[in-house]
Amino acid sequence: MPLFLGIDTGTSGTKTVLIDEAGALLATAAQEYALSTPHPQWAEQHPDTDWWSAAQATVQAVLAKVGVSGDQIGGVGLTGQMHGSVFLDRAGKVLRPAMLWCDSRTGTECAEITQAIGGTKKLFETIGQPVFTSFTAPKIVWLRKHEPDIYARVAQVLLPKDYIRYKLTGEYATEVSDASGTSLLDVRKRDWSPAMLSALQIPRDWLPRVYESPEVSGAITAEAAALTGLRAGTPVVGGGGDQAAGGVGTGAVEAGRVSSALGTSGVVFAHSADPFFDPEMRIQTFCHAVPGAWHLMGCMLSSGGSLRWLRDTFFQPEGVVSKTIGGDAYDLMTRGAATVPPGSEGLLFLPYLTGERTPYPDPDATGVFFGATLRTTRAYFARAVLEGVAYSFKDAFRLLQEIGVPVSEVRASGGGAKSAFWLQVLADVIGQPHRLLNVDEGPAFGAALLAGVGTGAFATVPEACAATLRTTSETKPNATAGAVYEKYYSLYRELYPALQASFKKAAQLSGQ
Ligand code: XUL
Repeated sequence: MPLFLGIDTGTSGTKTVLIDEAGALLATAAQEYALSTPHPQWAEQHPDTDWWSAAQATVQAVLAKVGVSGDQIGGVGLTGQMHGSVFLDRAGKVLRPAMLWCDSRTGTECAEITQAIGGTKKLFETIGQPVFTSFTAPKIVWLRKHEPDIYARVAQVLLPKDYIRYKLTGEYATEVSDASGTSLLDVRKRDWSPAMLSALQIPRDWLPRVYESPEVSGAITAEAAALTGLRAGTPVVGGGGDQAAGGVGTGAVEAGRVSSALGTSGVVFAHSADPFFDPEMRIQTFCHAVPGAWHLMGCMLSSGGSLRWLRDTFFQPEGVVSKTIGGDAYDLMTRGAATVPPGSEGLLFLPYLTGERTPYPDPDATGVFFGATLRTTRAYFARAVLEGVAYSFKDAFRLLQEIGVPVSEVRASGGGAKSAFWLQVLADVIGQPHRLLNVDEGPAFGAALLAGVGTGAFATVPEACAATLRTTSETKPNATAGAVYEKYYSLYRELYPALQASFKKAAQLSGQ
């Protein structure tokens, strides 16, 4: 019986999972790496020293953990942080560190691109979404302007997981879901957009071939086999951007079933059988990892990231205590938060620590605490952060509702969903039961399932999900808390519009 590997080149580290044909998780291995921020708004990692070495180490580790040889692996699926830019020269050498999805240096380039294509309406017709600082195209334009010597040597631009594919297979390839986040894909036609490429003067041959997610895109080379323990010739499928692969990993592969992922960023993700777009472009439509399907997505940039920031900034003692007693600083924080009433007595948090995408595409937005008084202790700040992130998820759910996307089931996943307290806050704020699944390995699991589909173990992606996933618990919304949150949510919604101009001014003052 063949086994399948999923390799997730994430932002905080790489995670590799090994599953069998029934979807049973046999082993996982993770390796962390840092984020380099050489300037304000920059966020970079090195494709070789960070990602490729972590991919090799984690593949070797999962094989060693279960004591299986590379011969038993039927296929490999790739996923990872989306939108990053890997610039390669003609010899396939990395030219500079990759600029990541959370790098917001390209505000000017986004505006220039919108103008180059002929304005927002034209952009909507061409790629169906605004150009965000996260996305890849503005990074290419930035390189042309700011590092022309490097730009002159570029021969290929890859996304993070596709660099791992290149190292594993020698192929320059991507797939539709990750390519959707470059601003260069015609999402309706599922291929590169000639109009975008010509408006931005980006050569077509800089971009890799585009596959559907379960399609085989190449095979492990002898060199990669020697470095990883895999067998030369093992097929590697297209895989998916972390959101689409996460959608597969949570079974969000049919209408109505919505995945709510609480990781560093937060994502509300819905399947769509048609290329259906929000005319106001507040929710993004990308190609799904299910062939011939799309997905709608609201992405909040600092979700779990906000709580991590709070922990590292204001809850260091909890970190020390939890290390000593072998517990978890987050548990201590949420225990404190649970002593504060729903609504945090009016302390509100806007989770815009790295700017925002949904519902306000604004790189200048910053984090805000509103409503502190002499009664406000650290426990209130903790609760306000949990609630503020939940309100931002509600923003995304509200937009889905406004454009008529059905939500019949919410499946929660990600590090934040492991907190029963936070899950309850989310269910109460959103007013929908939140279900957990038997597997919470998110994108890596989805990528492994895609490898199973691409190599014939499952006939289709929905069939792979149905065969391997089931719900294990449900957190029901509490109507009393929900009524309190509803009132504070309406106040929360007033804050961004009231502060929008001030965010811009603050960005100008700090010279960003
Ligand atoms: C999705 C997005 C993030 C990154 C990092 O559009 O920007 O979720 O993929 O995980």
